[in-house]
Amino acid sequence: MTHEERVPVQTTGNNMSRYEEARSHFDWKQVEQAFSWHHTGKVNAAYEAIDRHVEAGKGNKTALIYSDAVREERYTFLQLKEKSNQFGNVLRKLGVSKGDRVFVFMPRTPELYVSVLGTIKIGAIVGPLFEAFMEAAVKDRLENSEAVALVTTPSLLERVPVDALPHLKHIILVGAVGELVEGYYSFEEEMSQASSDLDMEWVDREDPMIIHYTSGSTGKPKGVLHVHNAMIQHYQTGKWVLDLQDDDIYWCTADPGWVTGTSYGIFAPWLNGVTNVVRGGRFSPDDWYQTLEKYKVTVWYSAPTAFRMLMSAGDSVVKKYDLSSVRHVLSVGEPLNPEVVRWGLKTYGKRIHDNWWMTETGGILISNYPQMEIKPGSMGKPFPGIHAAIIDNEGNELPPYTMGNLAIRTPWPSMMRQIWKNPEKYQEYFRIPGWYVSGDSAYMDEDGYFWFQGRLDDVINTSGERVGPFEVESKLVEHHAVAEAGVIGKPDAIRGEIIKAFIALREGYEPSEELKEEIRQFVKTRLAAHAAPREIEFRDKLPKTRSGKIMRRVLKAWELGLPTGDLSTMED
Ligand code: WT7
Repeated sequence: MTHEERVPVQTTGNNMSRYEEARSHFDWKQVEQAFSWHHTGKVNAAYEAIDRHVEAGKGNKTALIYSDAVREERYTFLQLKEKSNQFGNVLRKLGVSKGDRVFVFMPRTPELYVSVLGTIKIGAIVGPLFEAFMEAAVKDRLENSEAVALVTTPSLLERVPVDALPHLKHIILVGAVGELVEGYYSFEEEMSQASSDLDMEWVDREDPMIIHYTSGSTGKPKGVLHVHNAMIQHYQTGKWVLDLQDDDIYWCTADPGWVTGTSYGIFAPWLNGVTNVVRGGRFSPDDWYQTLEKYKVTVWYSAPTAFRMLMSAGDSVVKKYDLSSVRHVLSVGEPLNPEVVRWGLKTYGKRIHDNWWMTETGGILISNYPQMEIKPGSMGKPFPGIHAAIIDNEGNELPPYTMGNLAIRTPWPSMMRQIWKNPEKYQEYFRIPGWYVSGDSAYMDEDGYFWFQGRLDDVINTSGERVGPFEVESKLVEHHAVAEAGVIGKPDAIRGEIIKAFIALREGYEPSEELKEEIRQFVKTRLAAHAAPREIEFRDKLPKTRSGKIMRRVLKAWELGLPTGDLSTMED
């Protein structure tokens, strides 16, 4: 198993001169010196991301360039400081305080970013919700987190089952018109009355900051909690992986409803004082290339699905635009096919730098760095200060080219600190003493590059979005025609995987294309569009264990035409 294919280093004004050297000298404690708080011990990540630059004389620098089909706005660091201060005061006036959960359920707009920063400034915990979530998904998350306040829009409010959420006391509406009843507030009106001076909540490094919900293979979504201390990792990976420099124009295409959209769509760029581009609206190749061209983006962080869609849109689209500003391109979320790396090199003249991490890890842990050769198909090498390894189930480190659990020595600055109200689930990740067990399988080559092999659980990764089969199955069986459902990820050239559902119908229902479409819509409108099965197959019976658990691995083997393996636990 040798991988001869190498993509040599391209010249960049990079931040890390040599990987091996950075690794040998690295100490997280030194990173802390970059922040003002290392004098006081008290911290606030939003202060470090925004206000610190204002105090350092960079108040007039553009922090945010926002655009969508109808808006185009720029905000300086000073403006973001003042607006987030105002929002902090809005929350305080409602009685929201340190440790309370404030959720943000809205499209990518400047108001979303102001809300996230303002919430963090008063020491409350922010929970960003992806705007595509439907009622059941919204309810699960607001219920589990016991959120007291929600920032949303009038149209998304229709998906919030307010009456079923006793903890939810305050709803702040962006773009509301007319009179509002008690408990509902107009974002614009409250902001206009709020002072832009804020008594910042100084917290401890280990105090909670943000919750992202993510799916596992069983049970409801897990609330992954990160603390202010994560900023150390966001800052330093911003420097060495994103290669952020003072005059960069940075664009991360991820929505803040997912962790990439906060760790690398908010914290990493702003902690580094860099101009951050946010493009609202939907993906289209022309729109994305226009965004790169118009704002002269220099660093571009996206995902394999997007690159595959851009690739299939063809090179003629690329030729219409001047992409010469782009210096550094990165990808995360799912395996980046070697073919895409080759295409990027040919079409953009740029290497696409794959990197690996998870919601739970809070920040990048394994990456291809600008000053390192890329081996197409590899996720790269561990970040300095991170010890990654392939281990067996007893915690023994395995030699190169042996497949096993991809694991990280604990702790690191942005490691999750809790699964909200679920200590058992949290402990599962740390079941092997001294290690965080990722749930991914991989191997390492003789040069220390890591190669992703697959998930060890049933979690589906569709277009870079993590979907738990259990959530989809639970929704499917709520449909009147569905008796049983088993859900798997099916390999797909563009989306990585698509969701495929095997369904046994109830008595009296006949398979039909109309019924498939109805079931698909059912999941789409009740759970989330990205969680709806693209393929449905009706079966008389589903493979189950004697205890009644649907055997997804058998469904997967059927689908792929592979041997089904040990069937000793299967019912007759
Ligand atoms: C899972 C985490 C935090 C990034 C966004 C996804 C898969 C992530 C890669 C990569 C192959 C990858 C893993 C991981 N994944 N990056 N470079 N190559 N697979 O975060 O939703 O928490 O998903 O995404 O399976 O465990 P997430």
